Amino acid sequence: MLNLGIIGTNWITHEFVSAAIKSEEYQLKAVYSRQVEKAQEFASRYPNSEEMMYSTDLVDFFHLDDLDVIYIASPNSLHYEQAKGAIEAGKHVIVEKPAVSTLEELEELIDLAEEKEVFYFEAARHIHEENFERVALLLKNREDILGANLNFMKYSSRYDAVLKGEEPNIFSPKFSGGALMDLGVYLIYAAISWFGKPKESFYFDQKLPTGVDGLGTMIFRYDGFDVTMMTGKNADNYLPSEIYLGDSTICLDAVNSIQEIKVKKRDKGQLIELSYAEESLDNPMIEEAIAFSKVINNPMNVKEQKQYQDWIQLAKDVHSVMESLRKQAGIVFDADK
Ligand SMILES: NC(=O)c1ccc[n+]([C@@H]2O[C@H](COP(=O)([O-])OP(=O)(O)OC[C@H]3O[C@@H](n4cnc5c(N)ncnc54)[C@H](OP(=O)(O)O)[C@@H]3O)[C@@H](O)[C@H]2O)c1
Repeated sequence: MLNLGIIGTNWITHEFVSAAIKSEEYQLKAVYSRQVEKAQEFASRYPNSEEMMYSTDLVDFFHLDDLDVIYIASPNSLHYEQAKGAIEAGKHVIVEKPAVSTLEELEELIDLAEEKEVFYFEAARHIHEENFERVALLLKNREDILGANLNFMKYSSRYDAVLKGEEPNIFSPKFSGGALMDLGVYLIYAAISWFGKPKESFYFDQKLPTGVDGLGTMIFRYDGFDVTMMTGKNADNYLPSEIYLGDSTICLDAVNSIQEIKVKKRDKGQLIELSYAEESLDNPMIEEAIAFSKVINNPMNVKEQKQYQDWIQLAKDVHSVMESLRKQAGIVFDADK
């Protein structure tokens, strides 16, 4: 059983902790919050809360006894320093997407984790889902990919504050916010996982008064095809995502938490439809929680360690492309300065 400590007490941490406990691979042992009352309130929802450790000091928190893994779900720009502190204290780290603000930060943390012999995971939960892998299998060895159109836009309730002239964390350059970092990252992960690293990539964004992107279109160019992707946090999209092949179209209801995959195929003039609907799990973070625990618990297992190295390479590719898109669009974070 892995002893888990958490940073960030918002709803997503509850979702991860519930998934971790449900996986039966972790138990919640410690909670960090800037306010001890918040930490206690967070812990009160879980078993053995009377034995829980609390801290409002990050250095003390990282050195608490018996902690194996720290899950970090704070505003994006804080991930780097927090992950660095945890790794230096010899803890494995699971960091919410996007794990860092810049590629340089990512590379430094990966090197540090290797030196300290701990694992560093970016929690891009959708890549661990069964249906995400099913799409990858449908595309394996296909040489007739003609293009794709992937979408992920969701109106954020915090955009209301932007409209009032405020700067909530998720829309702030101080906290490395914006549509590309928050939702675009899911699309970039999908495109690179399914089609590889693009030869060229472009981002056409619409800036908010806070300086970050509210909405935008990415185009990834590959040999022989393009992938177009729309992301945004100030509008909702209801379009499915589609991948175009020589003889068929793969239709997805979404790019993360995919519930329905339909392959519409032309065969001798007839349209044949294959459906791969999968029961959705109660908690979409269980698969990643299990995947990370397998790597941590099996440091000598060649298959698990190869998997880990593949995730590391994927994270590097995603952050290298994402940073280039962001710079192209002139989105400057405090973390860049
Ligand atoms: N995988 C997913 O599906 C998913 C979904 C949502 C979010 N996320 C990711 O999770 C992370 C957190 O997102 P969020 O929307 O929950 O962020 P948030 O509400 O801005 O902050 C999360 C937590 O960080 C702490 N915090 C907030 N502002 C802070 C500040 N100025 N200085 C220090 N700590 C601060 C707070 O905990 P305390 O007050 O207890 O210290 C807060 O509960 C992001 O990286 C986001 O991309 C992932």
